[in-house]
Amino acid sequence: MCGIVAYIGNKPAYPIIIEGLKRLEYRGYDSAGLTILNGDLVTVKKKGKVSNLEEESLLNNVDGTLGIGHTRWATHGKPDDINAHPHNSGNNRISLIHNGIIENYAVLKKALERIGHTFISETDTEVLAHLIEEYQTRDNLSLTDAVRSALERAVGAYAIVVIDKNDPNIMVGARKSSPLVLGVGEDEYFLASDASPIIKYTNKVIYLNDEDIVTVHRDGTYEIKNLQNQVQNHAVQELDLKLEELEREGYEHFMLKEIYQQPTTIKESMRGRINSEEGWVVLGGMTPFIKRIMNAKRIIFAACGTSWHSALVAEYLIEELARIPVEVEYASELRYRNPIISEKDVVVAISQSGETADTLAAIELAKEKGALVYGIVNVVGSSISRITDCGSYIHAGPEIGVASTKAFTSQLTVLTLMAINLGHLRGTINSDYFHQLIIALENIPAKVEKVLQQNDLIKFIAGELKDMMNALYLGRGYNFPVALEGALKLKEISYIHAEGYPAAEMKHGPIALIDENMPVIFIATNKSAYDKIISNIQEVKARKAVVISIVTEGDVKIKEMSDYCIEIPETEEPLTPLLSVIPLQLLSYHIALMRGCDVDQPRNLAKSVTVE
Ligand code: G6P
Repeated sequence: MCGIVAYIGNKPAYPIIIEGLKRLEYRGYDSAGLTILNGDLVTVKKKGKVSNLEEESLLNNVDGTLGIGHTRWATHGKPDDINAHPHNSGNNRISLIHNGIIENYAVLKKALERIGHTFISETDTEVLAHLIEEYQTRDNLSLTDAVRSALERAVGAYAIVVIDKNDPNIMVGARKSSPLVLGVGEDEYFLASDASPIIKYTNKVIYLNDEDIVTVHRDGTYEIKNLQNQVQNHAVQELDLKLEELEREGYEHFMLKEIYQQPTTIKESMRGRINSEEGWVVLGGMTPFIKRIMNAKRIIFAACGTSWHSALVAEYLIEELARIPVEVEYASELRYRNPIISEKDVVVAISQSGETADTLAAIELAKEKGALVYGIVNVVGSSISRITDCGSYIHAGPEIGVASTKAFTSQLTVLTLMAINLGHLRGTINSDYFHQLIIALENIPAKVEKVLQQNDLIKFIAGELKDMMNALYLGRGYNFPVALEGALKLKEISYIHAEGYPAAEMKHGPIALIDENMPVIFIATNKSAYDKIISNIQEVKARKAVVISIVTEGDVKIKEMSDYCIEIPETEEPLTPLLSVIPLQLLSYHIALMRGCDVDQPRNLAKSVTVE
């Protein structure tokens, strides 16, 4: 949610900022802006995509070696040129970019207006620029001290970068509950929401902590202090991230690339964690805490969006294979409902970005209540990976398409490893079944490859469905969460209303919606409850719905009953979500494309939701 990037060094800042914004655009894309210090503050802001900003910038003199840039996902104030960041102070001395929400901005704004400040935008952010100006001029403070004083009064979440027209040799950054990374190059420094705009120039980064304020000097030094003005020492970390991982690499969209990467990314999620020949499964992150996890009274999952769907699959996996009671919670609900959590519980937070504000807050709460907190995260070095007690990376590599695809299957892979490992250690699965499962899991990437080979068929079905107004996704057992995920994918990128439901539960409401205009997508690969799902298909057919079914290879019965059918290879039932979700991802992709939607950057959404 909002991407920020800043540069100080010897090179022209503008190309670095504009390219950085393009890399960060997946975080928010309703408007963008930048300020380059060129004697004066040259601020350019434009509604819409970064490409609009680029055109507008050509009309300005954006030479200079210090600059800040921002791509916005609007919270306070509509997306337009004025509300776009950067925001400058009234005396046009300070320019500031911000990711987060200043919750007490209204009070601060009133106080500042009373002493003569005039605001031009509807944003919460503008108060920070004015407040910093006020401290600078009234108390004659340095930029860093003025930022500190301003932040002492701010309530809410922020990652900010501030520059001062009168001090072209420094930039100041600060964070609280929103991410900020310092890139350490040769005589140059970067500040950004994540490493994607930095990696082209340096792989050395420092992840700032909450309430850190960093002052970066052009002469090649920096100091980090906290809000209490105490010096903070953070290690420089080396990133293992390649530039091409951030490119489309010949694919028309990031989403398509990420769907096609899944045979590889699933393998990456398993690498070094499973060996069917030697017969073991291990998640290094669990090892130091294994007794506590094995003996947990409950495992509580906290997540949002697609990650929450992974957690639902985990409930089926862990309860069936490891016989530990599981609860699945929306992080946003868990954090505000005074839940009963004790030190006997293990809370597992699942997050692709590792930055989702609600998930972070749920973790804080779980820690306060004494639970062990385990993180299942994709982005290395992200906030969730740093505040959890232990955890496992899913190693899916950067996911840039806003609709999550490869992160979902990698999360499922790690969760399956977790469930099998726990089941084996607790003796709740016998060794034959244990072996069967790990062999089946190792075979999944090749089977995903086979599903992807059906792209032409899926594209054809997409053509038949592209004009629908609504869709219903139904599944049972392990495939109920897949139905939810399939519906979410369609909603997110094609703007078609879709609902996921447990197939049997359909009778308690959604069946009223069914007629010849309501396509129903059945995920019907289950061996258990096979006859039940056949009955559900019949109930739907009797009401004239068009039926699209995802079935196991060789299934004749359901194929005959369906208008369209996609086959997936046979596997162990707990692993079917890893295969059955793939055609649903492709179906949404093709439908969205045929409807002319922006697949990678769907309206109103953002990849990393750093506000609650
Ligand atoms: C946003 C993204 C979704 C994602 C959700 C949770 O809504 O658009 O794709 O599933 O946030 O994000 P997380 O990074 O915590 O998995």
